[in-house]
Amino acid sequence: MSGGIAQFQAAPGVINLALGHPAPELLPVESIAEIVGSAVLRHGAGGLDYGDPQGPQPTIEALRRRLARVDARVPHQDQLAITAGTSAAIDRVASLFTRPGDVVLVEAPTYHLALRILSDHPIDLVAVPGDADGLDADALARETRRVRAEGRTVRLVYSVPTFSNPTGASLSADRRRALAQVLRTEGLLLVEDDAYRELAYDGEAPPSVWSEDPGRVLRLGTFSKSLAPGLRVGFVTAPPELIQRFTESGLADSGGGAAHFAAVVVGDVMASGLYATTVERLRSGYRARRDALAGAVADHLATFGARWTVPSGGYFLWLTLPGLNTSTLLSAASAVGVEYVPGVRFYLDGQGGEDSLRLAFSRYSADELREGVARLARAVGSATRRGTK
Ligand SMILES: Cc1ncc(COP(=O)(O)O)c(C=O)c1O
Repeated sequence: MSGGIAQFQAAPGVINLALGHPAPELLPVESIAEIVGSAVLRHGAGGLDYGDPQGPQPTIEALRRRLARVDARVPHQDQLAITAGTSAAIDRVASLFTRPGDVVLVEAPTYHLALRILSDHPIDLVAVPGDADGLDADALARETRRVRAEGRTVRLVYSVPTFSNPTGASLSADRRRALAQVLRTEGLLLVEDDAYRELAYDGEAPPSVWSEDPGRVLRLGTFSKSLAPGLRVGFVTAPPELIQRFTESGLADSGGGAAHFAAVVVGDVMASGLYATTVERLRSGYRARRDALAGAVADHLATFGARWTVPSGGYFLWLTLPGLNTSTLLSAASAVGVEYVPGVRFYLDGQGGEDSLRLAFSRYSADELREGVARLARAVGSATRRGTK
């Protein structure tokens, strides 16, 4: 799978709808090349030195202006820090805010690689069942009390409340309020993975849970989806005393601000106006791909009793094929040249999602997406005839 400089390359001829990666042609290569060149000269040694532990101040200011447009609350200067992307931030949060043996509650289903990152730490993960509309606050309160009744410490809750990976679902306004209320009454801290906020296709993204209660949420944002994942730049908005845990850590003392030069570049990209135009271009490009994928699913898979919801943002469509085991189906799908991620991967210990799967519409063109779904339908058709369970 490797051998180049990118993480993954699909095998020739395969339409790999498992990959939650950007469309290469939508990455703003030339404009970033220009900005990187001018950033080196404009910022001189300051860009190449160790960085401010909070992040470059022009980037922080540009980000505050951007959040004023795409969220319901603007972080104060001391409520924000730059990270090296959300994956690194999840790892940092687990290092800084948990102790061995603590419990971290995770939504089910949830971003499978967040489960992998958290599993690198000596903590226990416990699933909180969600439904098609995302995390259920009552279930969160029940699970918290059940775990505490066993004498264990619930340290954090991890969730993707907006344009979720894998389901595409967003919490309704009522559910966001109910969630913030449970965070307060149970004394919980939410790790809100807000990776897809900028990729909204049917109007603006709903306000973050952080904006609902900035005292109880670590909201993790990233420029991976709205600009380019190779930059490895993201951010966290959180109460000032928690931001200080990042900026006054041993890692910051030794290495300075996270991804410093790339964060300087991101600040320039925002200040130049390129960021806003890139996000607009991504929104229309991915919206068209979302529509192509959803249309193809309706055309080819409805006949098998498939269920899905058309996502209003993000990269993914979650598909349920009642009666089929999507882990078993994968080899038939691979044989006809299409890949996806089986639903079980998004559940702790594979406890759920047997008949579901995740399709990414980010990487491939509309025509390739339609062809990918036609191939998937062939695999489903033959499995249905064989009665695969
Ligand atoms: C929900 C979610 N969080 C985090 C990430 C990774 O973010 P980053 O590239 O900033 O590490 C992804 C990428 O697929 C994602 O889907």
